[in-house]
Amino acid sequence: MRSFLQINDFTAAEARAVLRLAEQFKTRRGAVHADLLRGQTYALIFSKSSTRTRVSFEVGIRELGGQPLFLNAGDIQLGRGEPIIDTARVLAKMVHGAVIRTYAQADVEQFARYSGLPTINALTDNEHPCQILTDIFTYERTHGGIRGKKVAFIGDAACNVAHSFVHAAALFDFQLVCAAPDGYQARVTNANTTLTASVSDAARDADLLYTDVWISMGKEAEAPARAAAFQGYQINADVLRLARPDCMVLHCLPAYRGKEITADVLEARAADIFEQAGNRLPVQQAIIAWLAGVR
Ligand code: CP
Ligand code: NVA
Repeated sequence: MRSFLQINDFTAAEARAVLRLAEQFKTRRGAVHADLLRGQTYALIFSKSSTRTRVSFEVGIRELGGQPLFLNAGDIQLGRGEPIIDTARVLAKMVHGAVIRTYAQADVEQFARYSGLPTINALTDNEHPCQILTDIFTYERTHGGIRGKKVAFIGDAACNVAHSFVHAAALFDFQLVCAAPDGYQARVTNANTTLTASVSDAARDADLLYTDVWISMGKEAEAPARAAAFQGYQINADVLRLARPDCMVLHCLPAYRGKEITADVLEARAADIFEQAGNRLPVQQAIIAWLAGVR
C-alpha cells in the first residue's frame, strides 16, 4: 500500500505522472474517475486549522465517489492521549484511507505503518507535500517546465512549506534559493538549493517568488521574536522589481498583508495565487487516484 507522507515518497517519474493525472482532473472536472472511491470512506484527521486543505480533500473525495469523514483530533480520543498507533489500528477496520494534518512527522508515518491504509500528509511540522506539488502544477500550467528555473523562497525557510520546496528542487531539478534570517534557515538542503540571508540575492532574476507565513501553526508563542527577525523578509514591489519580468508570485495562504507580503503585491497577483489555492483540488484528487492504483 503506497502513501504520500513526504515529497520524496514519489520518484521524479511518479511525481510527473501525478501532475499529468491532475491535469485531467483540472480540465475534466467531475468526468474522470468519478466512481473510483465508490463505497469507500476516507478519514480526515486534523490537529491544526485548515481552510484550503480540508475543503479540497472533502470535495475531492466526494467527486471521486467516496465519503470524507472529518475528525477534529480534539474531538476523538486521540486528543485525550490515545496513541496514534491504536487510532490507526481502529480506523483500519472501518475506513479505506486517511488524510492527516498534525505536528510530528512520526505520527503520519506511524499511522501509515500501523493502519496499512493509503495515508496522505496534509501538513506536518516537517513537510506540506500536497501544497508543493500543487505549486509546481500551478507554475507549469502558465509558465512551462520548472526544470532549470530559479525559485526564491523568502521568509521562514525552517518551515514545512520551505522544506518540501527543498526536496522538490532536487526531484524536479530547479534551482531554489531560500532567503531567511539567522535561526530560520532551512534545516535540510541539497545540490539544487542555496541558503542565503540576502533577499535581493534570492529575488534577482527569479522565475518564481514564493513566501509563507512568518508564524506557522504551533509557533504562536514565538510571535514577538519572529515579527522582529523577519523584518525585511517580505515580497514587496521593490523585491518584485529584481525578479524576471515574467516572474510568478505564489503564496500557499493564508496571507498576512504587510508581513510576509504586501497588500499591493498580493492583490496584483491574486489571480495566480487563488488559482493556486483552487489547484489543491485536482492535484490532491490525482494523488488519491494514483495511490489507489490509477496510472
Ligand atoms: N495552504 C494551506 O494548506 O491552507 P489551509 O491551512 O487553509 O489548509
Ligand atoms: N507554514 C504554514 C503553512 C500553512 C498552510 C503553517 O504550518 O502554519
